[in-house]
Amino acid sequence: MKRKQFIKTCGLACLCSSASLSLLLESCANTTYFAKSEESDKYLSLKKSEFTQTVKNKQTERTFVLIKSDKFNFPICVSRTNDQTYCAVLLECTHKSCELRPQGNLLICPCHGSEFTNTGIVQNPPAEENLKTFIIKTDHDTIYIFF
Ligand code: FES
Repeated sequence: MKRKQFIKTCGLACLCSSASLSLLLESCANTTYFAKSEESDKYLSLKKSEFTQTVKNKQTERTFVLIKSDKFNFPICVSRTNDQTYCAVLLECTHKSCELRPQGNLLICPCHGSEFTNTGIVQNPPAEENLKTFIIKTDHDTIYIFF
């Protein structure tokens, strides 16, 4: 292969990989959804419909959504454990306060690898304490997360 052809091939390969990387990052961004919520002195509220999404004209249900609160420096992960039951945990690792990342039904710490269930129970060290959880109440269409 001649030098000019080699450079051209490498340039094309770089373009393709950067396009693939940006597509991959876009798809990752879509997996974490920040729901619309309202905050009062005592609770946050969000609509149950925030768990519904439309993908390719087909309705599916999210297993979790994230919400932000002015009271905490970390997002709150609200998971649906079955049709009518929800749980909410603060995404602050109890080891050294890194922000956890939801992955399937687990919450993973990117800093040192601790793992928690979506209900906040520690599964793998180095963290030893469970996550902060919140009391939840629901009515027909709304979820209330009490501080
Ligand atoms: S801060 Fe999460 S495992 Fe260390």
